Order: sequence, then structure tokens, then C-alpha cells
Amino acid sequence: MMRDLPKVELHLHLEGAAPPDLVRRIAAEHQITLARVFDEAGRYAFDDFEGFLRIYEAATSVLRTPEDYYRLTEAMLEARAEDGVIYAECFIAPDFCGGGDLGAWREYLAAIREAAENAEHRHGITLRGIATAIRHFGPDKARRAALCAAETAGDWLVGFGMGGGETRGALRDFAWGFDCAREAGLGLTVHAGEWVGPQSVRAALADLRVARIGHGVRAVEDPALVETLAETGTVLEVCPGSNIALGLYRDWAAHPVARLAEAGVAITLSTDDPPFFRTSLSLEYQRLADAFGWGADRFLEINRTAARAAFCDATTRERILQRLETPDHG
Ligand code: ADE
Ligand code: ZN
Repeated sequence: MMRDLPKVELHLHLEGAAPPDLVRRIAAEHQITLARVFDEAGRYAFDDFEGFLRIYEAATSVLRTPEDYYRLTEAMLEARAEDGVIYAECFIAPDFCGGGDLGAWREYLAAIREAAENAEHRHGITLRGIATAIRHFGPDKARRAALCAAETAGDWLVGFGMGGGETRGALRDFAWGFDCAREAGLGLTVHAGEWVGPQSVRAALADLRVARIGHGVRAVEDPALVETLAETGTVLEVCPGSNIALGLYRDWAAHPVARLAEAGVAITLSTDDPPFFRTSLSLEYQRLADAFGWGADRFLEINRTAARAAFCDATTRERILQRLETPDHG
């Protein structure tokens, strides 16, 4: 049922959406042995956020060519389309795609984009890219990632962001990269308010001047900040299943997404890294329906918010909004 609702997903890491089977297949082809990444059932296994980042990077290390990323993008989009996603933006890290080298990045990006265009023809799902820095790799690498982003900014690569270890370094140390990306016309988003409290969300707004915040849920701990978010129309990319899987909240009923929405904050819903958290966007909707009684009207409103906050061009946005209102509209 939830699968049939057309959905917009703004917060999705490309490598984080890698099906375990595909990672194992590519590892075997490159003759790479992966240790301590999967459990006996073949699923990603980790105990906490540090463990998650470790196996995420181990799994990503098998992806060594643009062709590997083509296959990853193809598999990722097929699964999202089956789940009813009609538009997605995904984080792509120049650090993983060519080690921050611009020439190599262009090749990876071309392969990812080709896979996206083929998936659009086949499954009717539209993808746009957000180049992303990895915070725990430090400000120098983030600068290189931003330069890659700025050089390839356009109708397909539409944003710049940053994920990774939120406790490493101050956000202002990364301001140069975000300024560079802004000047190139890219939309901006940063992970904040996931592992660090409200002050990290304040820093994201003040030091990086982003339009959207990845997670941002811990803003709920500061009522004045919640008010600011509501007044400024800052959009939160909320990923409840990710937060619960990583132990940030005990269960769905304890998650602050409903409180943020009631306070007038613009919230959107995403899966972050679906196979790692054993989730899909439909499953997230179902859990929220069970926990808070949310129904189709609420999800439509959330998807409208997401389409309006998308970093794509106006024509694409209008088309997506149309498809939300009239699901049969191609
Ligand atoms: N990279 C992939 N998933 C992430 C998350 N939930 N937080 C920070 N960085 C990430
Ligand atoms: Zn994320």
C-alpha cells in the first residue's frame, strides 16, 4: 500500500544504498576479501555509528571503477523505483569516486549519470546528484571535493553536502568548500544535529548557510532553535529508521519527527543507507503510520515539501509536483 504512494527522497548515500549481494559480487570480481562486514545471513553488521562508518568504508572500498558505480546506481534506482520513489537525490563522494581527482571524478560522474538516464527510461525514476565531502577526512579533502563539485555543477550535479563523523572538527573549518559550492550555484546541505546537539544545527545555519540539514533532529532539544527552523523554512532531511538503527532513539514512538512537524518545521523523509538499516521508504512510512497515525494526506504534504526543497531545476520540480498530485501522470 505505502509502496503505491509516489515518493520523493532527498537524503540517500549512493554507497549506502549498495545491496550486499552486489558488493560481494564486485569484491569477488576484483579478488578482494571482505572481513567483518556481513553477518552469517549476509547482511551488513555493525554495533554503533563508528562500526557503521567502518563497514561502510570497507564495503565502499570494493567499488574501484566507474563501471562499478554504474552497476551500483542501476541497482540502487531499480530498488527505489520498485518502492515507489519517483525522484531522488543521492550523495556521491569525490573521495570515493577518484580520490578527489577532477578527471577521475568526471568519469565516475558520467557513468553514474548514464545509469540514471537509463533507469529513468526503464523505471520512470529521476535522479540528481549531490557531491559530498566526508567530514572525518578533514577540511583539505573537503576543499578538493568542493572543487570537484563546483567544476561539474549543472543540471545533473545540483548540490554539495557533507556527511561522516559529526564530532570531528568545527563546521566553520569547512566554510570555504561550502562558499565555493554556493558560488557555483549548487544547493547546500550538511549532516548536523545527528550525533551533536542543537549547537551543530546552529553552526550549520550560521557558518555554512545551508538550505537543508541532513537529520537535524536534535534541534528538538532547543525550542528557540525549533522556532528559528520553522521561521526560516529550513528543511530537515529526516531519516527515522537510520536514527533508530544507530541507537539515537529507542524506538519509533520516541523519535522527534512528529514533534518537529507539529512545531511547523519543514520535514522530509528519507532512508539514508537503506540496506544498512534494513529499511525502505515505504517501510519508514508504515512505521510512522503505526507510531503517529500518519496517513496518505500527511505523506503527500511531506512529499510536496521535499519536491519544493529539491535542488533540481524548476521544470523538473514542476514535473515531480505534478506526478505527486496525479500519480498516473508520467
Ligand atoms: N554517511 C552515511 N550515512 C551517514 C549518517 N547517517 N551520518 C553521517 N554520515 C553518513
Ligand atoms: Zn546521511
